[in-house]
Amino acid sequence: GAAGATGLALGAAGGVGVYAAASGPDSGSGSSPALTTVGSTEAMFHGKHQAGITTPLQSRGHLIAFDLAPGAGRKEAAALLRRWSATAADLMAGRAPATDTGIARDAGPSSLTVTFGFGRTFFDRTGLTARRPAELDPLPPFSSDALDPKRSEGDLWVQIGADDALVAFHALRALQKDAGPAAKVRWQMNGFNRSPGATARPMTARNLMGQVDGTNNPKRTDPDFDRRIFVPSGGPQPWMAGGSYAVVRRIRMLLDDWEQLSLAKQEQVIGRRKSDGAPLTGGTETTPLDLDKFGPDGKLVIPDNAHARISAPEQNGGAAMLRRPFSFHDGIAPDGTPDAGLLFVCWQADPLKGFVPVQRKLDRGDALSPFLRHEASGLFAVPGGPAKGEYVGQRLLE
Ligand code: HEM
Repeated sequence: GAAGATGLALGAAGGVGVYAAASGPDSGSGSSPALTTVGSTEAMFHGKHQAGITTPLQSRGHLIAFDLAPGAGRKEAAALLRRWSATAADLMAGRAPATDTGIARDAGPSSLTVTFGFGRTFFDRTGLTARRPAELDPLPPFSSDALDPKRSEGDLWVQIGADDALVAFHALRALQKDAGPAAKVRWQMNGFNRSPGATARPMTARNLMGQVDGTNNPKRTDPDFDRRIFVPSGGPQPWMAGGSYAVVRRIRMLLDDWEQLSLAKQEQVIGRRKSDGAPLTGGTETTPLDLDKFGPDGKLVIPDNAHARISAPEQNGGAAMLRRPFSFHDGIAPDGTPDAGLLFVCWQADPLKGFVPVQRKLDRGDALSPFLRHEASGLFAVPGGPAKGEYVGQRLLE
């Protein structure tokens, strides 16, 4: 199980069913015994779904959006996705092209995943407007938005994750080179998570506010997991079967303000204990929240505006999403505050049944919002995984 309370926190060790043991960085050269589990763990490129959605969080991530070059259309886009797919399949298996930069030499696959998506504008540029999913309609504006259009959206989106920073950067360079004259980088963001093995046992990750973050994610073993996260077959856009919609938000954390709060206040903002992520109503990390419990002071123990209360599916007509973020830190902003926060990436079969209703509610007065600023936004259609011999998006582009 990859997406569960502990699953998303796992590094190499926990990806049962997602990962297979790699044969080594040079496939068959016999060098694999030298690699630890972290280096040798391999995510599968081919399959029903693209890798990088239910794959356990990696310690390093790059999000990159590209725009097609003027004059590039469907033919160039198809050729690009073909090149990108071949590169992704090689790199995820720990194979490097002959003309390689050498950046990842000596390392194994290190759980590398490369995930490709299409933005709303892609479909007009390629003459495929009729096949653009309604799910790509622009997200509504929210009052807490301070979005930078230059760092938002894009024709194409690539998510890279790996448990080694050099492996991740290597993939980034290779894919950018593959883009050639067909597409130009529109924006890029770099993120990180805890390194596998840093904690005594696999645990749910913490974010830069120090909270245990990811506890109540849908779990792959939930009966409705697939229905909530992946697009079913038989829909109006058959090429999206097995795919998912990614909402990407660059969320700045106002850490100087946040860190002024007492521990008790911080815990009330979320509705969970900071130490172990357990609900304020008691138990352990995985104990359900008791949203109806009152304290001796006659007040709700989990306050009315607590983030975990407002975002819970029970409060949102069942709206659920799989949150799979990376933290970011890009130095100090001109005003002296840390340019840091969360590259929030969430996955759902339909953004109108996932991100949108929940964010609408959070936006109306969740206790966490005063400490956040949404700085960039993207919405991408991520097609299903490629079958052997297929490239990503082939069912749309061929
Ligand atoms: C839960 C933090 C933004 C949706 C949580 C939890 C924390 C947290 C600590 C409790 C543990 C857990 O269940 O994972 C944050 C931070 C954010 C952020 C620091 C911004 C930097 C968002 C946004 C959304 C969202 C933008 C969606 C619009 C959720 C959901 C849950 C959750 C659905 C699970 C609620 C439940 O079922 O109990 N978040 N969150 N969060 N958050 Fe956020």
